[in-house]
Amino acid sequence: MDEIYLNGSFLARSEAQISIMDRGFLFGDGVYELIPVFNKKVFLLEQHLQRLKNSLNLIQMDEVKGLDKIINTLVNKNTKNTFFIYLHITRGPQQYRNHIYSDETEPTVLLMCEDYPQFSDDLIKKGFKGTVQDDFRWMKSNIKSISLLGNVLLKNYASTNGCYETLLIRNKKLTEGSTSNVFLVKDGSIYTPKLSNELLPGVTRDLLIRLLHKNNLKVLESDIYESDIAEADEIWCSSSTNAVVPIVKLDGNMIKDGKVGPVTTEVYTIVQDFIMNF
Ligand code: PDD
Repeated sequence: MDEIYLNGSFLARSEAQISIMDRGFLFGDGVYELIPVFNKKVFLLEQHLQRLKNSLNLIQMDEVKGLDKIINTLVNKNTKNTFFIYLHITRGPQQYRNHIYSDETEPTVLLMCEDYPQFSDDLIKKGFKGTVQDDFRWMKSNIKSISLLGNVLLKNYASTNGCYETLLIRNKKLTEGSTSNVFLVKDGSIYTPKLSNELLPGVTRDLLIRLLHKNNLKVLESDIYESDIAEADEIWCSSSTNAVVPIVKLDGNMIKDGKVGPVTTEVYTIVQDFIMNF
């Protein structure tokens, strides 16, 4: 959709302008959220706004009020039923480029509707390829920061190698994917890295843990070592764009028999059902 929200106004995307002195532009000084809208309903809004509040707090910015109203207006203006709200808040423009921020800057608030491909059931059934790289990003990956150069390079590494995702390793341990959280199945148990400053507390990750729990499937939040990945029976990635993406091959090696496993299929069915009935 072409109409966006910027600093108090709804206007055409092509008309929207920000200052070259915006700290978001100069320093990547800001945070964001990506919120799904399924069948005209905003998905897990409260959880996304809570994470946004935490991210703002972690970069010493104040909460921005009234976002839910802006989101509803954008949803009503959009003729599509399913899309994503991209919400981006920077520390705003400052008169001179200066690493030190002033208390006087007014935040820049941008919200717009974006489309991201939703993988078909057929694609999900086939599964995707993944690759593994060192996690060279900064140590505050729990902040949903707009400074995404590390993630951008790592996601492009996956893409240029014909993969969906790059799984990231720091100190021999799995942190997350470049744009997703990661789950692994071994001998019937489900594991995901425990939350820390080294990974994003994914809204989908949290949803999956809760849904699996309801379905009597426990997820163990624990350290996962590089060697565990190689020996996994099943792996999937989770994110707001595609809740469950099975990985069946890693750096050319099949995960088990190279087919989407039963636990991944079950969790995919459970989450699709939840989205349909939300
Ligand atoms: N990214 N980890 C990283 C590094 C991510 O970028 C994302 C999502 C996730 C999953 O979080 P959630 O389940 O809340 O979407 C984990 C979004 C989709 C993006 O940057 O576009």
